[in-house]
Amino acid sequence: MAEEELRIGVFVCDCGLNIAGSVDTEEVRLSAEKLPDVTVSVRNRYTCADPGQAEIKRYIKEYNLNRVVVASCTPRLHESTFRKCVEDAGLNPYLLEMTSIREHCSWVHLYDRESATKKAKDIVKIAVARARLLQPQHEMEIPVTDAALVIGGGVAGIQAALDLADAGHQVYLVEEKPSIGGIMAELDKTFPTMDCSICVLGPKMMDVGRHPRINLMDYSTVESVSGYVGNFKVRIRRKARYVDETVCNVCGKCAEVCPVVLPDEFQQGFSSRKAAYIAFPQAVPSAFLIDMEHCLGNKPVACAKCMDACEKKCIDLHAQDRITEVEVGAIIVATGMDVYDPAQLDEYGYTLFENVITSMEFERLICGGGPTEGHLVRPSDHKTPKRIGFIQCVGSRTENRGNPYCSNVCCMNTVKDSLLIKEHDPEAEIVVFYMDIRAFGKGFEDLLRRSRDAGVRYIRGLPGEIREDPVTKNLLVKVENTTTSRIEQYDLDMVVLSVGMEPKASLKKLMSVLNLSQTSDGFLMEAHPKLRPVDAPTPGIFYAGCVEAPKDIKDSVTQAGAAAARSSILLNSAVLKGEAIKAIVDLEKCNSCGVCARVCPYGAMKVDIKAKSGAQVVAAACAGCGTCAAECRFDAITMQHFSDAQVLAQIEAALENDPEQKIITFLCNWCSYAAGDLAGVSRMQFPPNNRFIRTMCSGRVDESFILRAFEKGAPVVLLSGCHLGDCHYISANHWTMRRADKLWNKLEKLGIRPERLQLEWISAAEGARFAQIMRELEEMRQKVTVDEMAYGRKVIAEQRRKAEKEPEVEDELTDAAKV
Ligand code: FES
Repeated sequence: MAEEELRIGVFVCDCGLNIAGSVDTEEVRLSAEKLPDVTVSVRNRYTCADPGQAEIKRYIKEYNLNRVVVASCTPRLHESTFRKCVEDAGLNPYLLEMTSIREHCSWVHLYDRESATKKAKDIVKIAVARARLLQPQHEMEIPVTDAALVIGGGVAGIQAALDLADAGHQVYLVEEKPSIGGIMAELDKTFPTMDCSICVLGPKMMDVGRHPRINLMDYSTVESVSGYVGNFKVRIRRKARYVDETVCNVCGKCAEVCPVVLPDEFQQGFSSRKAAYIAFPQAVPSAFLIDMEHCLGNKPVACAKCMDACEKKCIDLHAQDRITEVEVGAIIVATGMDVYDPAQLDEYGYTLFENVITSMEFERLICGGGPTEGHLVRPSDHKTPKRIGFIQCVGSRTENRGNPYCSNVCCMNTVKDSLLIKEHDPEAEIVVFYMDIRAFGKGFEDLLRRSRDAGVRYIRGLPGEIREDPVTKNLLVKVENTTTSRIEQYDLDMVVLSVGMEPKASLKKLMSVLNLSQTSDGFLMEAHPKLRPVDAPTPGIFYAGCVEAPKDIKDSVTQAGAAAARSSILLNSAVLKGEAIKAIVDLEKCNSCGVCARVCPYGAMKVDIKAKSGAQVVAAACAGCGTCAAECRFDAITMQHFSDAQVLAQIEAALENDPEQKIITFLCNWCSYAAGDLAGVSRMQFPPNNRFIRTMCSGRVDESFILRAFEKGAPVVLLSGCHLGDCHYISANHWTMRRADKLWNKLEKLGIRPERLQLEWISAAEGARFAQIMRELEEMRQKVTVDEMAYGRKVIAEQRRKAEKEPEVEDELTDAAKV
């Protein structure tokens, strides 16, 4: 390949007016034509469309191109499209370089055509510099384990598990509670069809329990996950139930004799259960368990009345948690959400007034299977309430109390509840206080009309506070009716707080186990909000239900079906094409120091330090973050497709002209680059002086890249990546941080202001912050003096020449090895 004549084709996209509206694409094309090894430079109206792709293929053949540069939208959107396109024309897909002149240029410099054009020319120049050094890569084939893990046994998890099992795949369904069913099992009726929630869910729960291909792991949690797409190894803790669920016949004798009385969580505390209990009558698995936290004790056994009463002898008070390990090819996360707790801020006197209840408590009070067998009574005196108020958006759509987002289901849930009350008591007076009613789904408006026709009053305005009459326990609600602009007062028997949804408290832990990220609302972040809405950014992991965002039952089931279908596509492949971006070791240079093995987040580097046999890469485990290559002080590791030579060529191309004007910005593919894309999509404007260099992870950014940028005259360098804890390569960016620390010290020692190197963690959801950082960097750039830049260039060049003569291996090695 080294002797091959380079023939590069550059394709500059207008993207209609999306790019051509603020960039002179013809000028960009002409400038690309003059770059070294460019054989042909072409402008397309829409490069990604069929005619655009056909043109690329035609030019590859006609001009015998062996490298292709596409300058269009973000590679995060269409890199795979163009890789496929060049592959169809007979080129290795890794001989394509795609670069963004839309999200990172035309959309963020909408009103400065001259600067945007100048920047676009640089962007193409940087891409061509990299393309000249691209090498063909080959994706390895990875066998796929035909089994799936579904985490969460609510309606979404149930649906996903059934769909996958029906499609012929082995499924492990892990549910942390003693029964599957989730929040849907606690609801009375569902909107808009008003059918009984447990009547529609119960049969599905039973299908799960008896499906031959579903291994239901109730009362269990996922402890750890290792491996990668197609080959995950999962460690699951099965908590001791102390009752053998395969033998228990639900006779209930254990509960009859159990002396411990506790509030029944399923009934929202309106009734009690024993320490020996079943989660709810329709529970799956249908079996009792012992609540050991409240049992009188098993060390030594203090009571054991349940054991004596159990005819099946299926109680073992000395049972232990069990650890099970399973291997799966795909994972569906369906852990659902929490309901907002108004007690946190004592909203509307929730903790003070007995007759202020939440919408979840209302579900149990009106349910035939609830503590009052469906007779709606108010908690203070068990009388039937005649005047009931609903307050909407409790914990939702507010910046200072609860969460800023709309919880999506509360409006329709209240509409449903109002009709349920009317079914029980047509004379009941119901008033709903709201900001605006969101009835956007199929059949929703119709249900709202039915509620209004039944006499339910909808008052636009949220009460400021509620007072209680200490004698009657009635509630006085004062509200400004914003439709009439009048202050109104209501005397109500009971108030229902329509509480919103929020991410589960336990989600953080699961995120760290699965290496997932969250959006600013705290729910899980998708690989792409529109085009890959059920995929996690980590390959092989999918989302179903409210773990991704608040949604109703129908949408949860729909998303579960989609996640199962996406998983099934993966599981049906006998082998997967793995990433070609992997580390390779030059054994001649490697001195077996073991640093690469220490920094690799995947344990993909194996080094026998004593045998000095050189580092070995476990290719299937290598995820391609590049941390090993950045930390290796012997230059013994090459990151395929992100080699030192390629990145250094990009830096040099970026700084060839007017380096004092440019800010070199290293962005990691998954977070900070994506944040740049979001800034572009949102048309957030910032100065055009930055030049972006993408690496898969910030962990790849070698010290030498940053020093080279300063040597070539960059006034400011930004190193950016995912927030700590969010790195898509587990902990790789911790090494980025250490490296930056080390560099700041080094710069200081050399007499260079350390502030000229900035480090920022930017999540994919932080487009606005990305734009703000770009503005701040430009302010910083303007303060770097010409003398400072000249001095930096000189000392770093001297330092490099010296290091080339006498490598300072010992010193560097000690630093990395210390950690
Ligand atoms: Fe973003 Fe590692 S992937 S810092």
